[in-house]
Amino acid sequence: RKRVVVFISGSGSNMMALAQACQDPDFPAEIACVISDKATAGGLAKAQEFGIPTLVFERKTYADKAEHEASILAALSEIAPDLICLAGYMRLISGDFIAPYEGRIINIHPSLLPLFPGLHTHERAIESGTKITGCTVHFVTEGMDEGPVIGQAAVPVLAGDDANTLAARVLTVEHQLYPLALKLLAEGKVRMEGGKAIRGDDAYDAAQQ
Ligand code: GAR
Repeated sequence: RKRVVVFISGSGSNMMALAQACQDPDFPAEIACVISDKATAGGLAKAQEFGIPTLVFERKTYADKAEHEASILAALSEIAPDLICLAGYMRLISGDFIAPYEGRIINIHPSLLPLFPGLHTHERAIESGTKITGCTVHFVTEGMDEGPVIGQAAVPVLAGDDANTLAARVLTVEHQLYPLALKLLAEGKVRMEGGKAIRGDDAYDAAQQ
């Protein structure tokens, strides 16, 4: 089983969806550690209840972004994860941080990228008048929410939606998509090559289910 570190900043519901998938002995990954940049992240207690080790690296306890990232990288090199999943980790990570894990870091974003990258995603989706939104799992590259797409899931935007009702609808499909995407990556059925996500036939079939 591939060893995964999950990065969170908040409630950690996607992290828990991954943790629940990893409980199946046939799932090809397990969570070695959860890392948060916020000591107050609700997901930390949930991970601990699940018996998953946690580490906190508060940005404000470091002089700058480079020191913060260096400290996290040092911890990661001891854990030696195969894969990293960003799950509501609300920080842009640098190219230097990504380099040693290139092709092995994935992120979930609550829109159908390339639409609505960045913050306030649901507000902007509603404002745009689109009738469909969703979520995207993609490889992490240096640009924000720009890496090659592994998979997407769509939900309707309904009349009367506000950012909270839409976020909740999108989250339900995030919790399905993220374990599926992690499974594809852990099984080697998707990989990043030449700036693209390359999927085998098996991977394509699985993503259609
Ligand atoms: C999720 O909707 C995730 O897609 C989003 O934050 C939420 C975290 O919820 N991520 C981003 O906006 C990243 N730009 P969770 O902590 O309950 O998984």
